[in-house]
Amino acid sequence: MQNQVNPLFAYPLVIIGERYTFADEEKQYIADLEMINNDGNSMSKDEKVLDSQPLSTLREFIHKNLLIYKKELLRIKDDNEIFITQSWINRSAAGDYHPRHRHPNSIISGVLFLNDNSDNDLPSIRFHRSHEMFPLALSFDELTDFNADSKEFAPQEGMLILFPSLLEHEVGKNESGRERSSLSFNTFVRGTVGGRKQLTEVELS
Ligand SMILES: [Fe+2]
Repeated sequence: MQNQVNPLFAYPLVIIGERYTFADEEKQYIADLEMINNDGNSMSKDEKVLDSQPLSTLREFIHKNLLIYKKELLRIKDDNEIFITQSWINRSAAGDYHPRHRHPNSIISGVLFLNDNSDNDLPSIRFHRSHEMFPLALSFDELTDFNADSKEFAPQEGMLILFPSLLEHEVGKNESGRERSSLSFNTFVRGTVGGRKQLTEVELS
């Protein structure tokens, strides 16, 4: 019998296979958004961009994939609806970066990349392990999902990544000489969570 490896309690980070194709009007709407300063980069002043009519098709695409993630991967019951709360555009000009952070008060978060990156010169998004596995800085022959402390993913135009909101991530310094932009969003739950008998019941509406 073969050894059975169990990736216990793994964080499900999903890169959605279908790439979103932007219409020219959507690109223009995003390009015209007013931006404000953020930590290391800039973000749209509107922090509910997916509520806007010009981005309603994009919202549908995201919502469809959120449902698959919630229902088929996480197996969250139908009693709990997942809905998008805030959504915003990030822009990194040359030299900008996005420091390590997570998304509190959210269940599932996502990021969708807006630029063509066929030259692969835009910085990747890097996710970090939440808890160290060993109390030692060991050296490895090869980094795998079992031993790496972090893992990065190169952006591609229209690529959507979904991840549990408390998974830490960052984007390194943009040294490409051109702008890198993405759309991020958070979600929350509606319905009853927990149980009355367990004294954990909360009604979220
Ligand atoms: Fe983020």
